[in-house]
Amino acid sequence: MLETQVRHPLEPLSEEEIAAAVAILREQEILPARHRFVQVTLDEPPKHIVLGYHDGDPIDRAASIVLLDSPSGTAYEAIVSITDGTVRSWKAVAAGQPPITLEEFDECERACKASPEYREALRKRGITDLDLVIVDPWSAGSYGEDEGRRLSRALSWVRLNPNDNAYAHPIENVIAVVDLDRMEVVRIEDYGVVPVPMQPGNYTPDAVGTLRTDLQPLDIHQPDGPSFTIDGHAIQWQKWHLRLGFTPREGLVLHTVAYEDQGRLRPILYRAALSEMVVPYGDPAPTHYRKNAFDAGEANIGALANALELGCDCLGEIRYFDAVLVDGQGAPVTLKNAICLHEEDYGILWKHFDFRTGKAEVRRSRRLVISSISTVANYEYGFFWYLYQDGTIQFEVKLTGIVSTGAVPPGTTPKYGRLLNADGLYAPIHQHFFNLRLDLDVDGPINQVYEVHTEAAPPGPENPLNAAFYAKSTLLAREQEAQQTIDPLIGRTWRVANPNVRNATGEPVAYKLVPHGNVLPFADPEASISKRAGFISKHLWVTPYEPEELHAAGAYPNQHAGGAGLPAWTAANRPIADTDVGLWYTLGAHHLVRPEDW
Ligand code: CU
Repeated sequence: MLETQVRHPLEPLSEEEIAAAVAILREQEILPARHRFVQVTLDEPPKHIVLGYHDGDPIDRAASIVLLDSPSGTAYEAIVSITDGTVRSWKAVAAGQPPITLEEFDECERACKASPEYREALRKRGITDLDLVIVDPWSAGSYGEDEGRRLSRALSWVRLNPNDNAYAHPIENVIAVVDLDRMEVVRIEDYGVVPVPMQPGNYTPDAVGTLRTDLQPLDIHQPDGPSFTIDGHAIQWQKWHLRLGFTPREGLVLHTVAYEDQGRLRPILYRAALSEMVVPYGDPAPTHYRKNAFDAGEANIGALANALELGCDCLGEIRYFDAVLVDGQGAPVTLKNAICLHEEDYGILWKHFDFRTGKAEVRRSRRLVISSISTVANYEYGFFWYLYQDGTIQFEVKLTGIVSTGAVPPGTTPKYGRLLNADGLYAPIHQHFFNLRLDLDVDGPINQVYEVHTEAAPPGPENPLNAAFYAKSTLLAREQEAQQTIDPLIGRTWRVANPNVRNATGEPVAYKLVPHGNVLPFADPEASISKRAGFISKHLWVTPYEPEELHAAGAYPNQHAGGAGLPAWTAANRPIADTDVGLWYTLGAHHLVRPEDW
């Protein structure tokens, strides 16, 4: 038992609390002999407890734990009460695999290098120095073979020297199928030798020469410090109030986002986080056709966050938050400066010049930026939440890092990708889909969701010039009506209204979800990826609030056969009008790689 030091039920678990939760599990002697911890996070209390909490109320602290029993290949979920010192629940994971852990990355690489068959495949390609080889443990996905085992279809690259960028030198057509529970190579699939592109792809100043020197300094000074205040994980900035969280699966979590309006704290968003992401590749070549990276559910993208103490990516007065994770043995690990908080000038918020009075008024825009960057082997994802002074909340993902590469014989032009250099290095065409779970509580939990678009008025006496158009709102009453795609040509948005609270015009108060550019997937509906990532088939989904429904592709998409998550939950077509609703928005980026990306 541990006397809690925290002062809010949503404060993330501390190192002490994680150690206590793991110790409670050990005391109960239910841990398998050879186990591996995947994650330990705060078991968030029910919404009514959080919303009813007052400073000084007793706080019940509990941990949600996922771990692997390697010899049996079974994964377990536990809820441990840190407050009571008890295990509240312990159950085996029924379908799918927990995410691949960072330790498994290393161990998988070692297992490959220990395999004579793997070494033989490399030898055929003239690669004998194993120290220069890197192995990325891509998940095996689910293709009706090797079922029931925790597997990677690992891909390899080779460096020309220990500091070389290996992604310039893909070892095409060698796939190591590795059993991650036994840490042994099941088989090597070799689809034929393609020469390894040898042209270096290094990007450090020592390789590319002096960086630009013709820019004068542009400094950002906040001599009196930032305008926000921080108390634990609670943040206040201008009229905004919110709490920060961080989980290994989701990375950044925003809790209880509210706006202060003439003394009234008006709730907007109870919880917002990345619920899942997937990167489907369009190349049918054997090295690439099963590349479908669910970087949240397969790789715990939050656990791959950069420690920004190694160099911050933001300018100005920065404040950081650490993330507390666990290693495979359940020992707490603090990732220093995983979250960056700062303010940015954002140009003009509003301007008007009154030509009659000759007076101009302008207001500058300042935004609060909450960000975190994760490195998933070659790729970098920057997750940015912005809060603006006009009440806007914005989410942006920045895609950067290094593209996933392959090799074609020199002189070949790939149909399903673009060449990056003349040495046969190429990058397959792919897409990146991110799903955001947005538990909106606009002025309270009971909300309605409307589809809004603009249409032309019919000809008639009301429309004498045949040029009239108007915005049409349609209440979305059930889940399946709310499965929609963007339509920028008719200005489609979705409005989340509270019918019980009126604004100054007498209409229900609302927030609207404004989509920007988006794409849809290309895979056939019967393809494995379409079943496993059903959430990418629509941009908007709406569900009634259910705290257990957190991840768009289900709790364990790694090697899951599919159908879980949003498609399964919404099959019941539950009512969504006048209830506590959650919006799920799928945001897709299309990536036909350019040589300039390289
Ligand atoms: Cu990309």
